Amino acid sequence: MAERVLDLPLVAESEPPPAVLTRHRDSIERALRRSALPAESHLGRMGAYHMGWVDAAGHRADAPSGKRMRPALLLWACEALGGDPDSALPAAVAVELIHNFTLIHDDIQDGDRQRRHRDTVWAIWGAAQGINAGDGIFALALQTLLVPGADADRRMRAAHALTSAVVEVVEGQCQDLALEGSPAASTASYLSMATAKTGALLGASLAAGALLAGADDECARRFDAAGRLLGLAFQVRDDWLGTWGEVELTGKARDSDLRRRKLTYPIVAAYEIATEDQRRELSHLFSERDGASDERLRTLLDRCGGASLTADSPLVLARDAVAAIDPDDVSRQSLQEFAEVAVHVAERVR
Ligand code: IPE
Ligand code: IPE
Ligand code: MG
Ligand code: MG
Repeated sequence: MAERVLDLPLVAESEPPPAVLTRHRDSIERALRRSALPAESHLGRMGAYHMGWVDAAGHRADAPSGKRMRPALLLWACEALGGDPDSALPAAVAVELIHNFTLIHDDIQDGDRQRRHRDTVWAIWGAAQGINAGDGIFALALQTLLVPGADADRRMRAAHALTSAVVEVVEGQCQDLALEGSPAASTASYLSMATAKTGALLGASLAAGALLAGADDECARRFDAAGRLLGLAFQVRDDWLGTWGEVELTGKARDSDLRRRKLTYPIVAAYEIATEDQRRELSHLFSERDGASDERLRTLLDRCGGASLTADSPLVLARDAVAAIDPDDVSRQSLQEFAEVAVHVAERVR
């Protein structure tokens, strides 16, 4: 399995996104907009603003949207197992809404005022209303998925997978906050936190797609495992982008993780290989709280080798993710498509 993936060509940054991410993009977009609440309501306006459809005053806008990675993966899994992507569209909408609810709350928790090149919901309406926006979008996600009608059992099982992931995401977010300011925390703590806060929902996206195609629990579990590894690759790359990425591309601040002394992959990787002196310096800088120490921290991470380890690790994890897909479950072409997404995730610049 692993050799099949190692054969893959690397995706150059300038290349278009893989087919899996573009194939259903329009129908996902249309279905997402159909699920939206009226922008005249408080909740509808905050939600539509966050999605990039209106400005803060509620007027039509065409602002940058998310990459729609999770719904695309859900539809890929469904199709790869012979399911009908149209029947999986409500679940695809649901997972994207769930993802967006977590982002709105995450920005409050991280104190981040910029996402997708715009002010975050809480930066405009305040943290209390941001909590409302996230809660409402989460409920809307379940409402979309659980409309009474056809395929009720499959949709129920998909809903169970997605809501179980939400419980895990919230635990991951708790761990993320608890680990702030702890540069000596173990790599295992980081991996547990990143798997929960990001891996769980990517895993559930694949599992839900599989369940909607009629897969049994064992097959869904294999898809879940692959998605979790992809999620880890995704998060480590996110950590790299959050420290060394181009703000013009990511649309997010570059100093936020360092300033909050987050336990990111660059920190755990650097700490693991650092000399005693470098560890002392890292711990000292973690206890300082000013802009100059943020910059010294970034330089130290480079010097220790934390930057290059963080740049390299997502591709290794992405290969593990592809290797976790059982070639007996899917066609060679579907596996190839997943591998392209995995490489793209590992090398993404936005
Ligand atoms: C950001 O997710 C949050 C993480 C899990 C790291 P994305 O990078 O998928 O966010 P959008 O939806 O494309 O903006
Ligand atoms: C990612 O959070 C996980 C969730 C949003 C649940 P991060 O805080 O690491 O991601 P960004 O960089 O703000 O998107
Ligand atoms: Mg954040
Ligand atoms: Mg966070």
